[in-house]
Amino acid sequence: MARLPLVIYPDEILLRKSADVTEIDQDIVDFVEAMRETMYASNGIGLAAPQVARNIRIMTVDVEPDKGGSAFMHLINPVIVESYGKTSYDEGCLSFPGLVAEVKRRKQLHVQAYDVHGKLLDFEADGLLAICLQHELDHLNGVTFVDRLSPVQKTLVVRDYLKRREEEKEDEQLAEILRVHGVASAKEAAEAGDAVLRSVHGQRV
Ligand code: NI
Repeated sequence: MARLPLVIYPDEILLRKSADVTEIDQDIVDFVEAMRETMYASNGIGLAAPQVARNIRIMTVDVEPDKGGSAFMHLINPVIVESYGKTSYDEGCLSFPGLVAEVKRRKQLHVQAYDVHGKLLDFEADGLLAICLQHELDHLNGVTFVDRLSPVQKTLVVRDYLKRREEEKEDEQLAEILRVHGVASAKEAAEAGDAVLRSVHGQRV
């Protein structure tokens, strides 16, 4: 299955609480595989189903992506049974391109979930894995990492992020207009503009 398109904030899919998986059928097996491919292709260490437009409780994780997939995990209907201690980490998110923010998390977790074979997974996690699992579990509850910041921080960070997105969108629209008009780059556009001006003024400079 091909790589799935990522859902980007502020899409409301990211703000919805996801439903439990009630039956692990071939659709779910294929979807987990597509999530795995999408996560690696996007250079992410974790991915939650809402980030690829499905509000169901599935996540994929690999906090050691340089180990050739040996640290890959997929969790269906994950639950944090217990959590201990405190930590914080500069987190990013595939649904927030370019944004990094320090988020406070629990340090250690006891997690239960199911795999695609319906087997119960029951394990302890700490370090980056614990952070990543909390980040992805938040996604399944319609919570994004900016919701873990103070209200003041969240306002500032989201405002900057949305402003940058808007600017990038305008740049993309401009590039598209140029492409439609057969102009490949801003430099060429400027040169084309100059040529038009020169011909208008009847000058050769
Ligand atoms: Ni995320």
